[in-house]
Amino acid sequence: MIPQSFIQELLGRVDIVDVVDRHVKLKRAGANYLACCPFHSEKTPSFTVSPAKQFYHCFGCGAHGTAVGFLMEYGGMGFVEAVKELAQGVGMKVPEVRSEQAARRAEAGDDLYGVLLKAAQFYRARLKDAPRAIGYLKQRGLSGEIARRFGIGYAPDGWQNLAAAFSDYDGPALAAAGLAKTNEEGRRYDVFRDRIMFPIVDVRGNVIGFGARVLGEGEPKYLNSPETPVFEKGRELYGLYQARRTIREAGRVVVVEGYMDVVALAQHGVDYAVATLGTATTPLHVQKLARQSDEIVFCFDGDEAGRRAAWRALENSLAQLQDGKQVKFLFLPEGEDPDSYVRKHGKAAFEALLDRAAPLSRILLDGLAGRVDLSTAEGRAKCIHEAKPLLKQMQANLLRVQVVRELAEKCRLPPEEVARLCELAPGGDRSRPPEPRVARPSPTPLARAMLRVLVSNPTFAERLSQEQRALLSSPELAPVAELVDALKDSGVASPAMLFEATRESQYAMLYQDVAGETLTAAEDVESAQADWAGAFIQLELVCVQSEYQRLTASGARNDAERKRFQELSRRLAELKGAAGNGARTPI
Ligand code: UTP
Ligand code: MN
Repeated sequence: MIPQSFIQELLGRVDIVDVVDRHVKLKRAGANYLACCPFHSEKTPSFTVSPAKQFYHCFGCGAHGTAVGFLMEYGGMGFVEAVKELAQGVGMKVPEVRSEQAARRAEAGDDLYGVLLKAAQFYRARLKDAPRAIGYLKQRGLSGEIARRFGIGYAPDGWQNLAAAFSDYDGPALAAAGLAKTNEEGRRYDVFRDRIMFPIVDVRGNVIGFGARVLGEGEPKYLNSPETPVFEKGRELYGLYQARRTIREAGRVVVVEGYMDVVALAQHGVDYAVATLGTATTPLHVQKLARQSDEIVFCFDGDEAGRRAAWRALENSLAQLQDGKQVKFLFLPEGEDPDSYVRKHGKAAFEALLDRAAPLSRILLDGLAGRVDLSTAEGRAKCIHEAKPLLKQMQANLLRVQVVRELAEKCRLPPEEVARLCELAPGGDRSRPPEPRVARPSPTPLARAMLRVLVSNPTFAERLSQEQRALLSSPELAPVAELVDALKDSGVASPAMLFEATRESQYAMLYQDVAGETLTAAEDVESAQADWAGAFIQLELVCVQSEYQRLTASGARNDAERKRFQELSRRLAELKGAAGNGARTPI
């Protein structure tokens, strides 16, 4: 856990304009900055970044967030990763409460990045004076430009080449990075010799490992870095760093099996492909990709092994599927891989295949039906039995409804019966909390107006009296009450800090929506104060008025009630006076 106070301090030092501008070129427009939105395609810019409020908002697609949010959405980073990246930029060190062992690993990890980067630079430089390696890449159709884009290098033949780059060649760092080993006689030697080096880069741009190919024939064809504290194969995707921008532009990402496939596709203009690293596709991979794109196309060989790999990818995608996201499968003709196919037939032909890729539901249903004899009762029962664990993983969304319906037809059962047999909870898997954003009553105009004030002026929450806080107890004002409570004593002083402080709130989306509305409004503190005070007058007025009316209707029956009635009349007059002059009502 990173302490909230650190996040707050970090956001106080970071400038979102710098952070965004590094990835998306911004143009100044009045108080804000504008660009074409990187999260949806558009011709006129509606992506707005506010330096005063330190957040971005797109008026086209509604994307919004802070500098942290931007790196998560655009860079595909996790929360911690994004915070670390920002901290690095402003020279802050992320404090982390963790075990001693983890701390040691992290220390080794920091060191590993440096070692791996240095090795990548060394290999890249060696490629320049290795005509045989250059010849091999050329023969495979790669240009110098593409080799540079992927940082491709060459590890020369010989046992101790890295000694030239590392003064501490015999120390532990090179072994920890998987670049060197020690033989039985205690002699150090390079792991990668006479191989084309493909650096594997994480989403932050750090080199975390290598894939290394022999030039021509030889065993093993590829040698890969071992897993280290900085390299976990089930998390990483080769080429993702290079393709982040182009994946967004293309609106889809293609997942292939090999380094050469990614590079060759890029060479032919299909520059939105990534590869798993000699492992099956994991749920983490799918999660990472789904953050980058609404359409994921898995590309496999058309043979039996390809079918098996596809089924595994399907199983690992099910839990990640949300409405609006598409997962598709493309099987290439026997004997072809994406590299050979695109070289023979070109970009347009490959993209035509992508356009015709089979949706996940098709593969799922065909796969289930293909394993049994649906003409027998036993076969149909087996089909349901096999479908159960798969369907249970899917969220209760439109896609699952469709799949269940088709499966029901195949198995000659009513859909409700299939759902019951597969133990599908009607509202979704019970182990999953319900999606928070649906079916919540939209806030009243007054609540929205109060939120608008508060989002721009978080410190107003500090000055709330107990009586005022009590006025926020009705259900329509729950989002305001929650925000007020979150802000009180929090030290939050800017909208960006506010978003990070309320990231986990059920109203986080609402707060950001409302903040978006404030971007185009002219504001000053005085009128915000007047709006804020006016809102409370209005709230109290409603309260007092209803009590007053109740007492009038029932008639004051004793001294206490008569006293209360007088108090109410006085207060009512005061409030009406205040509402009439001075304090503005914000709506
Ligand atoms: P392929 O055998 O399909 O190779 O392995 P490829 O991508 O077509 O490579 P080229 O075209 O012959 O150069 C696909 C992926 O499987 C892993 C690598 O990640 C490779 O990119 N692999 C393959 C290994 O790790 N080791 C191997 O010996 C072979
Ligand atoms: Mn190949």
